[in-house]
Amino acid sequence: MKSMLQFRRDCTAFFQALSEDGQSPLVFGDGLENRPVLMLIGEAPGEQEALQGKPFVGKAGKNLARFLETLELRREEIYISNVVKFRPTKAGASGRRVNRPPTREERELFTPWLMKEIAIVKPDALVTLGNVALQAFVKDTIGNLHGAWQRAVVAPPEKKAFTLPLFPLYHPASVIYNRALTAVYEEDLLRLRETLRVKSNAGNDD
Ligand code: URA
Repeated sequence: MKSMLQFRRDCTAFFQALSEDGQSPLVFGDGLENRPVLMLIGEAPGEQEALQGKPFVGKAGKNLARFLETLELRREEIYISNVVKFRPTKAGASGRRVNRPPTREERELFTPWLMKEIAIVKPDALVTLGNVALQAFVKDTIGNLHGAWQRAVVAPPEKKAFTLPLFPLYHPASVIYNRALTAVYEEDLLRLRETLRVKSNAGNDD
C-alpha cells in the first residue's frame, strides 16, 4: 500500500535524523495492513525483533501464538505493531546490550507516528499490551482498565481525530514475571474472545 510505504519512509527519515550511533533499525508493523479486525500494539521491539525486522517474534512470538490461538485468529489476519519502533537498550552487566523500557521522551516522539499508522491501517479495534501501549491513548493504568472495552481517541497530526474501541491487556512479559497475573490475563483474553465474537456476529459494529 502506497500510504504505508510512504509512512515507513517518512518515519525512517525522521528518526534517522535524530538517531545516535548504534541505535537499532526501526521495526515496523506486520500483518494485514488494511482494515484488520484487530491491531495489536506492544511496547517496543526486543533483540529478536530487531534482528528479524518483525514485531513479536522469538519469545514474544510464543506469547502471541497463545493469544492468537485463544482468539481463533491467524497472524496474517491482524496487524501487529509497537509504540516505539526501535529496540531501546542499555549496557548489561556483561557488557552486552540488554533491553530497557522506552523513556517518556521516546514514547512521546513515537506516539504521533503510531496515530498516523492507525489512521492508515484503519483496524476495527485496538488491543494494547501493557501500560506503555495503553498510555499512548489514556492517562490511566492497566491495573484499572484491563479486560474491559474502552474508547480510544486516535489523533493523527494534521488529520481529524476519530475514536476506536480499545481493549487493554496486561503485557504478556509482565505476566511471566508476576505469576499472580496469569489467571487475570487468561480471563481477560477469554472476555476479549467472547466480545469479539459478538462484534463480528453483529457485522463489525462497535
Ligand atoms: N516484542 C515486541 O515486538 N513488542 C513488545 O512489546 C515485546 C516484545
